[in-house]
Amino acid sequence: MISRKKKKGTPRTFWEHYHKIVDLCYDGNEELLEKINVFGSEEQQQRLFTVANIPQKYFKFDYNEIIETIALDIDNQTAVNSIKTYYKSLQKAADQGIGLYIHGPHGVAKTTITTLILKKAVNLYFRCFFWKSSDIIEFIRSGWKNENRRRFFDYVVNTVDFLVIDDIVRLFSEYKEAAAEKLYIDKIFIKRDDMNLSTIITSNVGLDAIQEQMGPALYSNFRERLIDVEVRGDDFRDSIGNQLLNKL
Ligand SMILES: Nc1ncnc2c1ncn2[C@@H]1O[C@H](COP(=O)(O)OP(=O)(O)O)[C@@H](O)[C@H]1O
Ligand SMILES: [Mg+2]
Repeated sequence: MISRKKKKGTPRTFWEHYHKIVDLCYDGNEELLEKINVFGSEEQQQRLFTVANIPQKYFKFDYNEIIETIALDIDNQTAVNSIKTYYKSLQKAADQGIGLYIHGPHGVAKTTITTLILKKAVNLYFRCFFWKSSDIIEFIRSGWKNENRRRFFDYVVNTVDFLVIDDIVRLFSEYKEAAAEKLYIDKIFIKRDDMNLSTIITSNVGLDAIQEQMGPALYSNFRERLIDVEVRGDDFRDSIGNQLLNKL
């Protein structure tokens, strides 16, 4: 097994992954290429975050600060313990294909937590990718007809060590009638289960609440693979919104 510890140098698989994503996703797309080219070599880390598709607004967040804020809510003790344990055990999580199912109301930092984990995983040279459910749906609706995008989709599903799927409820709300779409969505999780790869999911509802939509097979797969993390509290966006004027 290839060590991903920084002191032993970057593993070849990491750069293969980096170039594969750029080839499959960025090729011919000037807008995306510009995004990674704005960073010089001294900002390599930002380039790596960008290629992992982490939204730029999350680059600046610091793990300790965010965890401290979440821990202020006494109801979040269990959640904070689970996140801390996962954060310091990424190698073990990757080895065993263990992921997270982070759920809670809007604005309690679910997405932020996943980006903090991905940023650390990127720095440890794991292959990482952040995927919004709306982008997955968009692919399933139209992208699968495009050879390049299909290769990109298969590559991400089959190879990435830590895959974030943000806001999964959207994915399952598309389930209802379209059998072909359901097949694609199921395939993501079945393949990753087969390959022993870790998936980190955010959701506005607990697993039980979407059990019916996702079906019994995926439900038991999630129960077996994902640590349940419930985050509580108030919407951070409310307090941020109230401070906007002070920023000007
Ligand atoms: N600990 C924190 N302190 C300050 N702002 C935060 C913190 N965590 C998240 N935020 C901000 O609050 C907003 C909501 O966070 P987000 O992770 O998107 O929530 P969720 O995914 O639970 O809806 C984001 O704009 C983020 O910048
Ligand atoms: Mg979110």
